[in-house]
Amino acid sequence: MMYEKIPAGFFTAFDRQNSLLYNADDYEERKLSDLQGCFVAEEIRHQMALQENKTVYRVYKKTAPLVAGELLQAVTVLFPGTVNGEFFMTRGHYHIHPKCAEIFFCLGGRGLLLLQKGNETKWVEMKPDVIAYIPAGWGHRTVNTSLAGPLVFIAFWPAVAGQNYQRRLKEPFGKRVFQADRSYVIGDGD
Ligand code: PA5
Ligand code: MN
Repeated sequence: MMYEKIPAGFFTAFDRQNSLLYNADDYEERKLSDLQGCFVAEEIRHQMALQENKTVYRVYKKTAPLVAGELLQAVTVLFPGTVNGEFFMTRGHYHIHPKCAEIFFCLGGRGLLLLQKGNETKWVEMKPDVIAYIPAGWGHRTVNTSLAGPLVFIAFWPAVAGQNYQRRLKEPFGKRVFQADRSYVIGDGD
């Protein structure tokens, strides 16, 4: 890509061909072995992790100073697949800072964004060009509901937000998403 007129510190770009964030400076990969306790069929996930241990998602991040006023961004590529019929998902988290919202802009694929606050669960259908808003205080997890290809989205959030991955154990996502014919069905969570 040709971006030589823009100083590197001041932009990113979605590289559609390679499905990644151009000019990112941090990268994470989550495999089935990292997703302990996420799927109903925990034992099957464990066996799958011991065997093929597929990559479930990749995250390409652009960092910034972790101080008030700064923003972070990341592209998530959530691959297609299931664990015993339950669609691949991200771990999901709550922000540590209670006043930090987030925006997801869907770049490709099909999926659901699950939102959780107390006993209340909401979901947003993700498809290209949908811009989902995650109000402050809501836990969030994405699910790829299509076996045809990855769900890809970019997220923007305040640098001071922080992520809490333990809270979902006490305040779990109230819905789970399963394969059903060529579509999905939303079932009750834990
Ligand atoms: O900022 C976000 O909420 C996203 O970029 C997520 O971190 C990303 O989708 C990966 O999910 P998780 O952080 O729950 O593993
Ligand atoms: Mn977040």
